[in-house]
Amino acid sequence: MEPSKLMLSQDGSHTIYSDKYNAHYHSIYGAIEESIHVFISAGLYNQYRKGCRSITIFEMGLGTGLNAYLTMLEAEKLDINVHYISVETDPITISQAAALNYYTEVNEVDSGKFRQLHTCSWSDKVEFSKHFTFEKHQIAIQDFSFDQALDIIYYDAFAPTCQPELWEADIHSTLYEALNPEGSLVTYCAKGAFKRLLRSLGYKLEMLNGPNKKREMVRAVKRI
Ligand SMILES: C[S@@+](CC[C@H](N)C(=O)[O-])C[C@H]1O[C@@H](n2cnc3c(N)ncnc32)[C@H](O)[C@@H]1O
Repeated sequence: MEPSKLMLSQDGSHTIYSDKYNAHYHSIYGAIEESIHVFISAGLYNQYRKGCRSITIFEMGLGTGLNAYLTMLEAEKLDINVHYISVETDPITISQAAALNYYTEVNEVDSGKFRQLHTCSWSDKVEFSKHFTFEKHQIAIQDFSFDQALDIIYYDAFAPTCQPELWEADIHSTLYEALNPEGSLVTYCAKGAFKRLLRSLGYKLEMLNGPNKKREMVRAVKRI
């Protein structure tokens, strides 16, 4: 995926600016802060608090691998089993991944796991540790077959202004079907039309404080 630009967000962690989509991969106010707030705290921890110890996560848009990396670290700390599935149409290059400062920013020694997220093969299930298995697919979400039941969806697409097609009913009804009851979709996006769509599919919406300077984010829970 070229060209794109590496830049520092305000919490000191890197993000990428995509020329193709004219958008940043993360909040410019803090990439790691956003990922922890939206996906780890509102998604992973919330499911953990409900008693889940074996959790299947689907991420829309692997991108830099930041959400996958933080989830792997948390799975090890929480002593749980996470199976992580992600799709990506335009993978970043290995050299772009090597330039990202995530493990130094989260005070992890470089165990090579962050790099491995990018170097491991596509479409295979890779066991990173007893706590974390990972599969990534180089495919558009629209073409992906959901054949595993999901507990959490990290919905990290570019905003509706950049890719409106990723915030519409066809994809979201497929995701809703793939989600287990009591499972949840978390996203930074709190646009009215998207909230209405989620409600119309049957989700119960929980409006949470957004990350950084954002007022709101969404956790959509599938009713039992
Ligand atoms: C906002 S960025 C995601 C950032 C990523 N989660 C991270 O932590 O770096 C959105 C990602 O979705 C990817 N993407 C765009 N359209 C897609 C599609 N139709 N299917 C799968 N991935 C797509 C982009 O290439 C980009 O990497």
